[in-house]
Amino acid sequence: MFERPKAGQKALLVHLEFPGADFESDRQEFIELARSAGAEIIDVIGGSRRDPDPGLFVGSGKAQEIADAVAASGAELVIFNHALSPSQERNLEKIVKARVLDRAGLILDIFATRARSHEGKLQVELAQLNHVATRLVRGWTHLERQRGGGIGLRGPGETQLEMDRRLIRERIGTLKRHLEAVRGRRAQSRAARMRNDVPTVSLVGYTNAGKSTLFNALTGDATFASSQLFATLDTTVRRLAVKTGETVLLADTVGFIRDLPHDLIAAFRATLEEARDASLLLHVVDAADPERTTRIRQVEEVLGEIGADEVPRLQVFNKIDLREDETPRIERDEEGRPARVYVSARQGLGLDLLREAIAERLQPALQEQELVLPPSAARLRAQLFTHHAIRAEAVDEQGNFHLRVAMPYERLRGLCAAAGVLPPPSPHVVEEWELSP
Ligand code: GTP
Repeated sequence: MFERPKAGQKALLVHLEFPGADFESDRQEFIELARSAGAEIIDVIGGSRRDPDPGLFVGSGKAQEIADAVAASGAELVIFNHALSPSQERNLEKIVKARVLDRAGLILDIFATRARSHEGKLQVELAQLNHVATRLVRGWTHLERQRGGGIGLRGPGETQLEMDRRLIRERIGTLKRHLEAVRGRRAQSRAARMRNDVPTVSLVGYTNAGKSTLFNALTGDATFASSQLFATLDTTVRRLAVKTGETVLLADTVGFIRDLPHDLIAAFRATLEEARDASLLLHVVDAADPERTTRIRQVEEVLGEIGADEVPRLQVFNKIDLREDETPRIERDEEGRPARVYVSARQGLGLDLLREAIAERLQPALQEQELVLPPSAARLRAQLFTHHAIRAEAVDEQGNFHLRVAMPYERLRGLCAAAGVLPPPSPHVVEEWELSP
């Protein structure tokens, strides 16, 4: 609904070097992002600065250099690989005489063209509106059309700008209400899954790491994997058999990226909550990416921001077909638990090892516990049988049942509490494994 850059738009890219940043890899990623948005890249203007200029972000000399390049090339758009304040954007536009887009705007644009589900579209539109709300200056007349011939809406003395602000506020309100409803439904189905004790495993990872490809390889479906960034925006959940008779749910999530715009994190909170509430996160890493260590850290940062840093992780080093020195294998942490699995989703290498590792890492959730029931607790015993949770049973002279029960501890404790029976002692809590580089 907004004037986002259209596919094939002629764009100049601006990427400055700041102390501490990895110039070359950030530059490469920026070019890919711009391509994903459909920009026709004319040139990448570089430079370096110690600190951003408050008024223009770049220095006035650099601004003039950009303006000259725009004039010479006929560029319609200048994209900065940095966060610009609304006033910097405006000031730059005056000088370079072309539309200026910052990194958040660019990512929002890509998201806007990728969203497929109703929820995804609502989320992106909300993020876009929040992003433009502070950048409104003039002439957003197309909002009137959105309202269906809104000319009569213009109150006496109300300026175009005020009206636009009001329309945007109203639209944001509507979107939020719609999203609340969708989120409520999603939370319900997530709660239902948790009630049924089916562990959920969520795929997370830097954009383009191969999450969708792995998701499809594991669940045996051929939906869409593409070399475009952020091909996946909407969570899909499918069943995954990890061992004979054991099923978990596997959820694909949105690709992470350095400096994910905050509007987007907020907008995609519902999608990302899948990751927060998962029993296990599969952190997919592109093993062939020279920047993988940095990417891992960036994903960890986003996980922290959405409150998912407590969820156990299993790293999946994907694309080993691109590396001659790697073979499918499981690497274990000091306590012997699988910590990292090397696979190739595209060639189907190491997928059985991955299933094995998932099952093993979920063991605490499916842990067996010893439970002693008095003869009077026959009803609870029957319940446990109905859940197929009793693995072994013996009866002592007093008629007590000694059971070996396979069930998540919390669930078992709940059932015991309801039956007025002493729960088994709490399971051994394992220290969360520290990521090695
Ligand atoms: P986003 O949607 O951006 O988050 O990406 P994603 O992580 O879901 O990545 P996707 O599955 O779309 O894969 C990205 C690219 O990597 C595609 O071109 C895939 O074909 C390719 N790819 C995925 N797995 C492998 C692999 O094991 N080996 C190789 N060589 N390429 C792979």
